[in-house]
Amino acid sequence: MTTKTYDVVIWGATGFTGRLVMAYMAKTYGVDGELKWAVAGRNATKLAEVKQEVLGPDADKLPSVLADSNDEESLRSLVADTKVVCTTVGPYALYGSTLVALCAELGTHYCDLTGEVQWMHQMIETHQSAAEASGARIVHTCGFDSIPSDLGTYFIQREMHKAHGVYAPRVKYRVVGSSGGVSGGTVASMMNMMEESGVNPEILDIIADPYALNPPNMPRGEDGPDQTTAEYDRDFRQWTGPFVMAGINTRVVRRTHALLGYPWGAHFRYDEAILTGDGPAGFAKATLVAGGTGLMTRVAGFEPLRNLLGRVVPAPGEGPSVSDMENGFFEIELRASNPDDPAKDLTAVVTGDRDPGYGATCKMIAESAVCLAVDDLESAGGFLTPASAMGDPLISRLTEKGGMGFSIKGAGE
Ligand SMILES: NC(=O)c1ccc[n+]([C@@H]2O[C@H](COP(=O)([O-])OP(=O)(O)OC[C@H]3O[C@@H](n4cnc5c(N)ncnc54)[C@H](OP(=O)(O)O)[C@@H]3O)[C@@H](O)[C@H]2O)c1
Repeated sequence: MTTKTYDVVIWGATGFTGRLVMAYMAKTYGVDGELKWAVAGRNATKLAEVKQEVLGPDADKLPSVLADSNDEESLRSLVADTKVVCTTVGPYALYGSTLVALCAELGTHYCDLTGEVQWMHQMIETHQSAAEASGARIVHTCGFDSIPSDLGTYFIQREMHKAHGVYAPRVKYRVVGSSGGVSGGTVASMMNMMEESGVNPEILDIIADPYALNPPNMPRGEDGPDQTTAEYDRDFRQWTGPFVMAGINTRVVRRTHALLGYPWGAHFRYDEAILTGDGPAGFAKATLVAGGTGLMTRVAGFEPLRNLLGRVVPAPGEGPSVSDMENGFFEIELRASNPDDPAKDLTAVVTGDRDPGYGATCKMIAESAVCLAVDDLESAGGFLTPASAMGDPLISRLTEKGGMGFSIKGAGE
């Protein structure tokens, strides 16, 4: 077996999210500890400056690698030298394809933060066979989209089976509360997705397909389009509005189910929404959420308005303030229905102690990278999801080190 220079390389370390991943890795694993890791970027001077800012006197102890998405040889050398590439270079559809191809070819594990469904669809179609052959585990969506959804569903199904010997035919994911902000890179990725759709309308069909990420020629399921209006949820006894990440997360959870071999049954259903409360106020809030989400989609889909929006949102490299991240949080509930007895339905609570998009996401992707590098995983190579690639070991890491909680409501009372 060839020995790699690094266990993990963080590519994109000069960006808003990459810096946070670097800081978390240094705090959690040290810069010269047992785990061999490095940071990578395309500009040596900027990378050195950012390392100095983030790590201070420890900056020189952490190795740097230069790699530009426009220079395939630089990427090939990075990929050949490491067990896991953890990338925060986005929009991924613009800068990420060569890296994925090389990881699949050379058997290097990979994790990212993309939410670009059309790009994941294309990467799976093009490189799945190479990744299976080389043993590379390629894992997209290792941030707030879609770890709480994917591991949350995996967790509640595990607990349902443990408690009652059955799996739930339906799981609902509901956002109870969250606070945080958005970065320039995320806005750029959303804008790019809409721009690509304008040029190639087939992309809209892929984005709208509830099973867009399911393996081709394998059974799909009974889920329809994502929620777009205010709806009353009898299980939660509250109104709900559309959740902006549902279009990504639901596809990931459905792919997990397929990759695990459909353990939750041929009729398994999964959906996501935001809880807005009971009564007229809950209905009004749900209607506002639905209106706001619809408006954003229309604005982003119309070029002149998109350009206007581009002037008021954060630029690449910018993002929420430190205090917004430190005071941020998220709380999700997942409800799993028991197929035999509604009294045995379970509700799981998934929490994070920082804002979802950055403070918590940087821990999720960092722990995913370390998990892929050092944990004893059962999964084979291919395009996997967080749950199908890393399941229990990643839940343990995120609860022990990543500030996340996975629990069953009412358990132990
Ligand atoms: N799923 C989630 O929960 C979640 C959360 C946060 C972020 N994200 C995603 O993560 C990505 C990064 O977001 P961000 O806000 O951190 O973006 P950002 O601040 O704009 O950072 C982008 C990074 O990519 C690098 N880069 C750009 N072009 C490159 C190229 N040609 N070759 C090599 N590196 C290049 C930049 O390098 P320079 O510094 O040299 O320009 C920078 O390091 C986005 O796609 C965003 O959607 C997802």
